[in-house]
Amino acid sequence: MISLPKLKKLAEREGTPLFIIDHDVIRANYEKLHKHLPRLDLYFAIKANPVPEIIQTLYALGSGYDVASIQEYQAVLENIPSKLRGKKLDDFIWDKIIVANTIKPVETLKQIANYNTLMTFDNQYELDKIKEHCPDAGLVCRLRVQNVGSVVELSSKFGVEPGDAPNLIEKAFEMGLSVEGISFHVGSQCANIENYLNALEASSQIFKEVKQRGHKLRLLNIGGGFPVPYDGIDPPFEAMAKKLRKEIDRLFPKNISVVAEPGRFIVATAATLIVEVVGKSFRDDKWVYYVNDGVYGTLSGVIFDHIPYHFNAFKRGDKRLSAVVGPTCDALDTVSTSEMLPELNIGDLLYVKNCGAYTNGSATTFNGFPKTKILNINV
Ligand SMILES: Cc1ncc(COP(=O)(O)O)c(C=O)c1O
Repeated sequence: MISLPKLKKLAEREGTPLFIIDHDVIRANYEKLHKHLPRLDLYFAIKANPVPEIIQTLYALGSGYDVASIQEYQAVLENIPSKLRGKKLDDFIWDKIIVANTIKPVETLKQIANYNTLMTFDNQYELDKIKEHCPDAGLVCRLRVQNVGSVVELSSKFGVEPGDAPNLIEKAFEMGLSVEGISFHVGSQCANIENYLNALEASSQIFKEVKQRGHKLRLLNIGGGFPVPYDGIDPPFEAMAKKLRKEIDRLFPKNISVVAEPGRFIVATAATLIVEVVGKSFRDDKWVYYVNDGVYGTLSGVIFDHIPYHFNAFKRGDKRLSAVVGPTCDALDTVSTSEMLPELNIGDLLYVKNCGAYTNGSATTFNGFPKTKILNINV
């Protein structure tokens, strides 16, 4: 965690708004996940934060990547060492990239056909497309699993019902495709261990049923969802990891590869946003501060990621109920209606901690406000 004086100095030197990514924290988060779940091979979910330097930092740690689009795929290829770029590298790609979006445009399938990439599917239409355009891909069948209590719910949109999975997998084998394994996602920011435990149990049943039908699966992908601390919340990650470790070892023999696609866990706590008060008014009995980044910008996660971000002041003083809003002309651009802050003036700075996941990646340039400058430190 960068000290407050250092944060302030960086803002004075670089200007605001400023989004600071600390790569020492990224490395520590990766190592922590690896330490507590040593059996897992990790594929960083680029969607959580697609900054090229993050791809590079994680490559050095041995990470793979979960990509959702051809653009993310290309971002990986462009940010790995040049000797590995642009070739048909079956081993490299196999180890390093999983296309974890169950729905892939035909054009994307054509562009990645040569790489024999791992990719997920959850329905027959996708299998038909894959058969025609990417017949050598390694397939991973995504299950619909319980997302109870997760902050971001994913099961309404993705995953085949576990009861239908064996037939779908068998169909893929009949089509001459190669199904490598099963994946699931328990929903993002998941502090409910039951979601993982139920999903592991369902996956194990499917492994057995597929085996009885004469096929062998060799890969289990437990997705993402690993919870991180936000203001006022500190989920019991270590206790969850302990149970997960035990259950994975109980249900899946050592010759099954187990992988995960963490996004939030790797990057959320690695970034801090610094904003500046550019306007001020007194409305509805409280101070309203207009700052130079907001919901249409870096704090887009308020909407898309359902995370309520909070502001801290560098200044001291009696705290009062305040609202903090972004710079655009839309009232939706209200980051928070209930912050406790000292009275601020135009030009004062505020900072937001732990905003490294699902923030800058979904920022827009609405009203012409440019995307916030990114400063990578400890790269
Ligand atoms: C398929 C898939 N994998 C991995 C992730 C990353 O999840 P998390 O950020 O919760 O670790 C997501 C997030 O939406 C996802 O959709």
